[in-house]
Amino acid sequence: MGVTILGIESSCDDTSAALLRDEYLLSNVISGQEVHRNYGGVVPELASRAHQQHIIPVVDQAFREAGVSREDVDGVAFTQGPGLLGSLMVGTSFAKSFALSQGIPLIGVNHLQAHILAHFIRDTEAEEDESPRFPFLCLLVSGGHTQLTVVRSHLDMEIIGETIDDAAGEAFDKSGKIMDLPYPAGPIIDKHARMGNPHAFEFTRPKIEGLDYSFSGLKTAFLYFLRDQVKQDRDFIENHFNDLCASLQHTIIDILMDKFIRAAKQTNVREIGIAGGVSANSGLKQAVHQAAGRYGWRVHIPRFEYTMDNAAMIAMTGYYKYLRGEFTGIDAVPQARFKY
Ligand code: KG4
Ligand code: ZN
Repeated sequence: MGVTILGIESSCDDTSAALLRDEYLLSNVISGQEVHRNYGGVVPELASRAHQQHIIPVVDQAFREAGVSREDVDGVAFTQGPGLLGSLMVGTSFAKSFALSQGIPLIGVNHLQAHILAHFIRDTEAEEDESPRFPFLCLLVSGGHTQLTVVRSHLDMEIIGETIDDAAGEAFDKSGKIMDLPYPAGPIIDKHARMGNPHAFEFTRPKIEGLDYSFSGLKTAFLYFLRDQVKQDRDFIENHFNDLCASLQHTIIDILMDKFIRAAKQTNVREIGIAGGVSANSGLKQAVHQAAGRYGWRVHIPRFEYTMDNAAMIAMTGYYKYLRGEFTGIDAVPQARFKY
């Protein structure tokens, strides 16, 4: 029998548990948290409390769906960071107790590395292995991070560019908040952008050296632009909603793609991936496919349920660490800022 890993994710506002046998996923249960919708972002204290309520039922369901018993598990992988401390604490405590009670190794996982390794999750034995070949270049775009990473092997990654302020997901969510949209605004903007003109409004692009990103200027420009327009037309946002979404999304994607293409040229890598919640964006996917045609890239985009926060990617990363014997002591503590 292969190696069976239980994965636990609780870094932000999704509680998730997954079971994996070798590279094959047996179950992946994700429970979101509705409580944050009207706050314009995740409220840490509420998130931590919701994780405590969800963790046991979510793990139970993951075992039921996978059809394996607790005794079958060889190692328990959990998100050690980065993330919200109170949220991470819930998953960490659960993972520790599980490992202790079963007498199996504990494996601390970096959440960002896991988003990238989501590319290697396989669903069924019949599925052909279309995972990226090394080295591959991955743009990780989520609510908390925006990074360009060269992946040389499963556990050998180098960040070659990252945001110096807001993440791409924040650019969506904070601009959405300015338009009074609930959190997270990204998927709503994506939906309405499809019905709008991406060139209706122009927003300035940041001028940042090298391969780093910046999104806070765009958010401010968007705020001032709307403030001026609303002075003249109280219903400006309502009247131009689709065009605003399309133009904003177009600008974010342009900023992302500019450095992404530059990074691919500089590193001479053509195996290309995107990961993280924002990689579900239809405009970004389209832009990546367009660039692929132009530059001869081989593109990898994980399935939607593996791009958002999920435990399948944590279990996948745990599996590779298990094979290398990279275990974590039972005295492990969660790390709000966790570098790899
Ligand atoms: O990876 P993720 O689930 O959580 C973090 O680790 O942050 O990413 C969540 C982010 C949110 O900012 C959300 O607005 C964004 O992903 N997002 C999208 C879309 N779906 C999710 N942004 C743009 N378009 C989408 N379709
Ligand atoms: Zn994430």
